[in-house]
Amino acid sequence: MNYFALIPAAGVGARMAAGCPKQYLPLLGKPMLRHTVEAFTRSPLIAHTYVVVSAGDGYAGDVLPADLPGVTVLRCGGATRMESIRNGLRLLGGTIGPDDRVLVHDAARPGLTPALTAKLIDAAGADPAGGLLALPVVDTVKSAAAGKVATMPRTGLWLAQTPQMFPYALLLRALEEAPDPDAITDDASAVELLGLSPRLVEGHPRNLKVTLPADIRIAEMYLTMDPET
Ligand code: CTP
Ligand code: MG
Repeated sequence: MNYFALIPAAGVGARMAAGCPKQYLPLLGKPMLRHTVEAFTRSPLIAHTYVVVSAGDGYAGDVLPADLPGVTVLRCGGATRMESIRNGLRLLGGTIGPDDRVLVHDAARPGLTPALTAKLIDAAGADPAGGLLALPVVDTVKSAAAGKVATMPRTGLWLAQTPQMFPYALLLRALEEAPDPDAITDDASAVELLGLSPRLVEGHPRNLKVTLPADIRIAEMYLTMDPET
């Protein structure tokens, strides 16, 4: 069984509102996507890394040159994250075996480390339902539906991160069969709709998703920290 990384990087970063898609913003002088890709190329457990960008992307060629070992850029991005991932998986049908594991990881999470990837693979690499990094909720959770504020029990609540890892054939089937795939915001939820329970493996705050302008400095702070933490 081989482990492959699939990085969706075809978003526009609307909430970041920068002059370019956020995955190309510099963090400590290096484009965010390059940090993210290197988290996998530095991992001995990952056989190859695929990066999905949009067909008209004008940055990927410089950030991920064609001779970069262990990395292939796929220009098949779609209108949503799920569509980008589905397009990438379809293209890789002849390359990745049905039981090989695919680790889907957001380009916008540059703080991933080989140690966290190894923790996920150790805990869930052999699980037929797959698994994902996630963080237990530590804050008190409020709901404010229809003007009524209430406090929700937080026992058993987790915040999903990526990588989210599944057997190739299972993930492709889950995304093909999801009733409204574009309403799904993570890969695990598509697999859950098939009646399976992916394993939750505790991640780390350094693996935050860079979404808003204020996240840039936080991501840079974590990137200066020891990657074994
Ligand atoms: N993504 C993608 N294809 C899309 C939309 C998103 O590959 N059509 C990727 C993004 O590039 C990112 C990951 O999915 O790495 C997580 O999405 P998100 O953080 O929402 O990024 P954006 O969609 O770019 O940001 P925003 O929602 O603020 O526009
Ligand atoms: Mg988005």
